[in-house]
Amino acid sequence: MKQLRSSHYLLILMMIFSIGLAACSGEEESQAGTTDTTSIPPDEIVNTAFKEEFPLHYESYLKNMEPSDAPSSKFVEEIEPNLPMLFHNYGFMLEYNETRGHTYAVEDVINIARINDNSIGSCMTCKSTAVPALLDEMGDDYWGASFKEEIVPRTIELGEGGESEDLGEFGHMSIGCSDCHDPATMELRITRPSFTNAMERMGVDVTEASKNDMRSYVCAQCHVEYYFEPENQKVTLPWDNGLKPEDMFEYKENQAKEQGFDYDWEHTISGAPMLKAQHPEFELWSYGPHGEAGVSCSDCHMPYERSDGAKKITSHHWTSPMDNMDNTCLNCHSDKTEKQMRDRVDAIQDRHIEAMHETQWHSVRAHYFVNRMITAGADEEKIEEAQYYVRKGQWFWDIIAAENSDGFHNPQGGADSMRTSSDASNKAIEIAVSELSKLGEDLDELERQIEETMEDVYNEEDPHEKHQHAVNDYFPDVLELRD
Ligand code: HEC
Ligand code: HEC
Ligand code: HEC
Ligand code: HEC
Repeated sequence: MKQLRSSHYLLILMMIFSIGLAACSGEEESQAGTTDTTSIPPDEIVNTAFKEEFPLHYESYLKNMEPSDAPSSKFVEEIEPNLPMLFHNYGFMLEYNETRGHTYAVEDVINIARINDNSIGSCMTCKSTAVPALLDEMGDDYWGASFKEEIVPRTIELGEGGESEDLGEFGHMSIGCSDCHDPATMELRITRPSFTNAMERMGVDVTEASKNDMRSYVCAQCHVEYYFEPENQKVTLPWDNGLKPEDMFEYKENQAKEQGFDYDWEHTISGAPMLKAQHPEFELWSYGPHGEAGVSCSDCHMPYERSDGAKKITSHHWTSPMDNMDNTCLNCHSDKTEKQMRDRVDAIQDRHIEAMHETQWHSVRAHYFVNRMITAGADEEKIEEAQYYVRKGQWFWDIIAAENSDGFHNPQGGADSMRTSSDASNKAIEIAVSELSKLGEDLDELERQIEETMEDVYNEEDPHEKHQHAVNDYFPDVLELRD
C-alpha cells in the first residue's frame, strides 16, 4: 500500500528514474480541458450523449467494439483445460470466457450461462453506467435484488429530453464515460462505493487522491477481487489485511467468516468449501514493479496518442498495450527496442502459463485424492484437514489465474502465490496418501483413474458439457453421498 499513500514521493522518484527513460510526453497537455464545464447534465449515464461534445473520445471508445468475435472459452488446452474439474458444482464450470471490450460488458453478463434465477443485482456492478443510478434509487436493496426480474428489465428514466433506455441496450449503458468522469466537468471520479469503502477501511481517502493515483483508481472500481458480504449481498473488497493473495486469504478465513461468509460453493469432487477469486489486476499491479514505481494503469492501457492526424487525445480503447508499444512501453523504456520488450513480455508470460498449468494440475489431483478419502471411509478429521488444504491450494492459483495479464503485472507475485498453492495442494495429497495407505487402498489404481477422468474431460469437445465427465462411478459426487 506504500505507493498509494506516497505517490508524490514516487512521482519525484519517477522523474529521477526517467533519466534512463524518455520523458512521458504530453501528460500536461492531456489534462488540459478536464476542468472545463460541459453542457452535459451531471447525472447523464448514456454514452452516446457524450458523442457530440467529445467526438474523438467517443470514436476511440467505439474501438472497444473490435474485434466483435463472440467471447472465447478458457477451457481449451492452451489456456486452462482443468477448469471444468476445478470449478465443479459452481457456475464457472459451465462457462468461463476470455475478456472482451468494455462496450460488450452488459451484453456478455446478460448472456453468460452462469447467470441463473438466483443471480443478484451485484452481478451488474462492474458492467453498466446505470449502477450508480440504481444504487441511488434502490439503496442497499440493489445488491441482493433479482438480476433477471428486477435489474435487467428495469428501464432507467433519463433526465430532461432523454428517452427511457433499457439496461440491455447495446453500447449505450455498458461501462462508459460517467463511470470514470463527472459529466459536467469531465474530472475523473469514483462512482463505485465498494472501492471507496475498502480504501477508507485502509485509511485512504480517495477524494484526496492525486491525479496520478486517479489514473489507476478509476480502473480499481472494477478490476479487483471482491465477495458478496452475506448480510445484504453487497460487493465487498477483502483488503483490510492488505492486497496480497495471502492477506485476502486471511481475510476470508477470519473477517469474512465472522460475518457468516464461509464459502462461495461446495466442491462436488472433494466436498471442500471453496473460494472463488476474481480479476485482481489492481492488487497484483500495486506491488509489482510498475505499481511500486507509480506507473498507472492508464500509462499503459490509455496512451496519449494522435487521433485524427493532428489532435492528441488519451486513447479510450482499453486493450493490450502490446498492440501500441510506441506509445506505451517504449515511451518510457526508450533504451530498448520493440523486439527486446516483446521478448521480455513473452518470456514472463510463457513462464507464468507453464507454472499455472502445473499448479492447477496439483489442485485437480488434490480434489480427486480427497474424493477417494471420502468414499474409502477415511477419518472425518483427516478429511476436513485435507479439504482445508484443497481450499487453500485453489485460492492461491485462482487469484493469479483470474488476473488477466498472464503474469505481466507482477511476475514475482504470481510465482510466489503459485508456489504456496502447489505446497497446499500437495499437503492435501500427502494427508490423503497417508490415510488411504492405512486403509489398504490401491494408490496406483487411484492415479490411473485420475488420469483417465482428466482425459475424458479434455476429450469432450463441447465446453458446456466438459464438467459432466469430471464425476463418474469411481469418483462420485460426494455432496450427493452426504445428503
Ligand atoms: C474507465 C475509465 C474511463 C472511461 C470509461 C472513460 N474515460 Fe475518459 N479518461 C479516462 C482517463 C484515465 C483519462 C486521462 C485523464 C488524465 O490523465 O487526467 C481520460 C481523459 C478524458 C478526457 C480528457 C482529454 C484527454 O484526452 O486526456 C476526455 C475529454 C474524456 N476522457 C472523455 C471521455 C468520454 C467522452 C468517455 C465516454 C465515451 C470517456 N472519457 C470514458 C478514463 C475514462
Ligand atoms: C465499471 C467497471 C470497469 C471499469 C471502471 C474498468 N473496467 Fe476494464 N473491464 C471491465 C469488464 C467487466 C471487462 C470485461 C468485459 C467483457 O468481457 O464483456 C473489462 C475488460 C477490460 C480489458 C480487456 C479488454 C479486451 O479486449 O479483452 C482491459 C484491457 C481493461 N478492461 C482495462 C481497464 C482499464 C485500464 C481501466 C481503467 C482506466 C478499466 N478497465 C476500467 C470493467 C471495468
Ligand atoms: C507497465 C504497463 C502496464 C500497467 C501499468 C498495467 N498494465 Fe495491464 N497489461 C499490460 C500488459 C503488457 C498486459 C498483457 C497484454 C497481452 O498479453 O497482450 C496487460 C493485461 C491487462 C489486462 C488483460 C487484457 C486482455 O486483453 O485480456 C487487463 C484487464 C489489464 N491489463 C488491466 C490493468 C489494470 C486495471 C491496471 C492497473 C491496476 C493495469 N492493467 C496496469 C501492461 C500494463
Ligand atoms: C510510464 C513509464 C513506463 C511505461 C509506460 C512502462 N514502463 Fe516498464 N518500467 C517503468 C519503471 C519506472 C520501471 C521500474 C524501474 C526499474 O525497475 O527499472 C519499469 C520496470 C519494467 C520491467 C521490470 C524491470 C526489471 O527487470 O525488474 C519490465 C520488464 C518492464 N518495465 C516492461 C514494460 C513493458 C513491456 C511495458 C509496456 C507494456 C512497460 N514496461 C511500460 C516505467 C514504465
